[in-house]
Amino acid sequence: MPNMVIKGLGRYIPQKVYDNAYFESIVDTNDEWITRRTGIKERHIASDNEYTTDLAVNAAKSAIEDAKISPEDIDLILLATVSPDYFTPCCACIVQERIGAVNAAALDFNAACSSFITGMVMAEQFIKNGTYRNVLVVCADVLSKVTDYKDRATCVLFGDAAGAAVLSADDNGGKMLAYELGADGTGAMHITSLAVRNDEEELEKRVSGRKETVWMAGQPVMKFAVKTMADATGRVLEKAGLTYDDIKLIVPHQANYRIVDSALQRMGVEKDKVLLTLDKYGNTSSSCVPVALTEAVKTGKIQRGDKVVVVGFGGGLTWAAAVFEF
Ligand code: UT7
Repeated sequence: MPNMVIKGLGRYIPQKVYDNAYFESIVDTNDEWITRRTGIKERHIASDNEYTTDLAVNAAKSAIEDAKISPEDIDLILLATVSPDYFTPCCACIVQERIGAVNAAALDFNAACSSFITGMVMAEQFIKNGTYRNVLVVCADVLSKVTDYKDRATCVLFGDAAGAAVLSADDNGGKMLAYELGADGTGAMHITSLAVRNDEEELEKRVSGRKETVWMAGQPVMKFAVKTMADATGRVLEKAGLTYDDIKLIVPHQANYRIVDSALQRMGVEKDKVLLTLDKYGNTSSSCVPVALTEAVKTGKIQRGDKVVVVGFGGGLTWAAAVFEF
């Protein structure tokens, strides 16, 4: 059975920036509150004419270039988003056409902020059983288009970005060591964005009255996040027969530095083992992990052969954790 290796990584971050001062001008908030409660200083925002597939195409091209393969070599595109261009067609098919991945099957999936790790796990099934050799996982979101900019409790949190990985069959080093996917549907309505269902109660929660905007119950999500991130990381390390000392870097979902901090305390791990990018990009949903992972490689924080943990949680509620050899 072939191993799955991360052959290439890429990301795309839009140009426009909203700093904390911008939010002081639109809602009753301030830099001190946002920094102390979240750690976020800036988020990048897509332009009016930039949508999820535009971000996704750029990240995908960059990952394919990094993998040194051609788009025709890709067998499957798995694209995760909570802010698709259309209900149908799926974003993955649009990306398939625009990057010229003419031999690839393509589909969207949604495990919210846990999506990148979920995508890695799905890709590994196809690669291990010999069905596909190259799977492109793309995570892209334009949360700015579904943010309620009248709700100070959520609008300061989100940014736009895309991250992508080419995951390939390769027996020359690098592999998935252990993983865990999970869901707790009892918390499904803690993070919502409305689609076709007529739900008056949910609609009333939106300050802006726009049904597609994201509403969130921050406190229960925070509690869930700390526990599941720490416990799921512990379990995947145990499955892999590793300890925290074997791990070069932990790349978590980037929602709030307090969540990461409390999870690290629960794990008994020092802060220098974790990569945080949320001060620069905010919470970009599914792309947080691949965006940070790309940065880790670019800045030399991880190198081939290092063991890395990726862990996330999000709407659903979902969680996912994996340990792999890069
Ligand atoms: O990736 C998807 C998963 N989502 C998350 O991970 C988010 C998880 N949750 C969180 O990160 C935190 O719950 C938040 C950052 C969203 C909020 O932090 P918190 O410590 O849970 O604050 P809170 O909701 O308990 O609000 C505390 C106070 C409230 O005022 P009162 O009732 O104490 O007077 C809020 O109205 O802070 C107020 N508040 C704000 N004040 C200034 C809420 N948002 C703001 C704001 N500026 N932007």
